[in-house]
Amino acid sequence: MLPIPKIESATAILDAFARPLRSLRISVTDRCNLRCQYCMPEKDYIWLDRREILSFEEIAELTAVFTRLGVDKIRLTGGEPLLRQNLDHLVRMLARNPQIHDLALTTNGMLLAQQARALREAGLARLTVSLDTLRPERFRALTQRDALDQVRDGLRAAHAAGLTRRKINSLSIRDFNHDEISDLIEFGRETGSEVRFIEYMDVGGATRWTADKVFPRAAILETLKQRYGPVQALDDLAPEKSSSEQKSSSEKTGVGDAINARSRARQAPPEGAHNGGDGTEHAGRSSNGRGTAKAPADRYLLPDGTAFGIISSTTQPFCRTCDRARLTPDGVWLLCLYAKEGLDLKRLLRGGASSEQIARTIAEAWRARIDRGAEERLHMASRGVLFQIEDLRRDPHREMHTRGG
Ligand code: GTP
Ligand code: 5AD
Ligand code: SF4
Repeated sequence: MLPIPKIESATAILDAFARPLRSLRISVTDRCNLRCQYCMPEKDYIWLDRREILSFEEIAELTAVFTRLGVDKIRLTGGEPLLRQNLDHLVRMLARNPQIHDLALTTNGMLLAQQARALREAGLARLTVSLDTLRPERFRALTQRDALDQVRDGLRAAHAAGLTRRKINSLSIRDFNHDEISDLIEFGRETGSEVRFIEYMDVGGATRWTADKVFPRAAILETLKQRYGPVQALDDLAPEKSSSEQKSSSEKTGVGDAINARSRARQAPPEGAHNGGDGTEHAGRSSNGRGTAKAPADRYLLPDGTAFGIISSTTQPFCRTCDRARLTPDGVWLLCLYAKEGLDLKRLLRGGASSEQIARTIAEAWRARIDRGAEERLHMASRGVLFQIEDLRRDPHREMHTRGG
């Protein structure tokens, strides 16, 4: 597909903590072909009613409302998004929207070998593959499927198809795969994908989460330091670049310094913080003075220049700069990954509301947004799972596989 000329992002709406609405994560299906124990550990699930699932046209229409309100970053997720028939058609439709500057997909890679080329041709710009272990028996234990090779094939196919901007998301669980951190770095190097280590989160679906299974950022950094030597933190404000073109901050930063610097930057939104005047910000400018948002990953360099990321949503959440919202496969809009309830945009859309009416509803809800779910969890005295199994069964929108990882 010929590249569509982009037009400047619209002026973004600010929430009650002056966080702009910039990023929309669209979950296109609640189905998945793996059963990762941190996400779908149960035997059976209550699925969304198929009649309620948004059509591609409906998704594109809602997306256009969001982009007119300043969203310029779209990520397709699931469940497993490649289970949605003809996903490349949706990618093609979204790629035509000139206000989308970043169109990405998160997949488990199982069906990537078959679909990589079509996705690339449809205009997909970036791809993230989830891969937590390189050991076949662990992969089977974690996902309940014997399919590590399939995922590896998927990554190879993505490379061959010209999907050059690739990342690997790897969730580290203590005493399960935390000993594979260096292996995954090596694998990322070999396959030309930047690896991001993710802390295990107590989100919906993670009904087996316990605090002692979290392998925190500090431990990940320490592991890599032991193996490779000093780890350098990339400047907070550096724009995201591919591994080959990275520039590091001028000063060598010890692991401890890197963590401390980050902690300082990650406090709760100031009490009583407010958006200014009309509740808007100009495109490209961040309300929090940190440049265009780059959350949730913090990026680092190894001595040989290999870049990697850490997403420490559990121990050091990024709520302060969170500019993202989510759309479930059936059109419920969530203002936070941890939100208990959402706003049913499909009901408005199918009820005949105009784009302007939907836009007004979205803008009003975002301006009132005070969500900072991960931070609230952090400050809880005793931390268990977010939702009990009965809560998830009562409302499957609370599942991570419904609202998107
Ligand atoms: P890039 O645009 O490539 O930086 O992707 P991303 O930073 O949006 O990350 P990705 O979609 O790969 O998500 C990676 C992980 O970040 C998820 O699996 C979650 O663990 C975590 N994450 C994503 N979105 C949220 C969110 O809204 N809140 C919190 N607390 N964590 C999130
Ligand atoms: N904690 C952190 N990340 C999770 N994901 C799913 N469940 C969890 C959890 N409990 C992430 C996976 C995958 C993405 C789709 O969602 O790591 O990369
Ligand atoms: Fe695993 Fe993602 Fe499927 Fe959840 S939705 S079971 S994290 S592959």
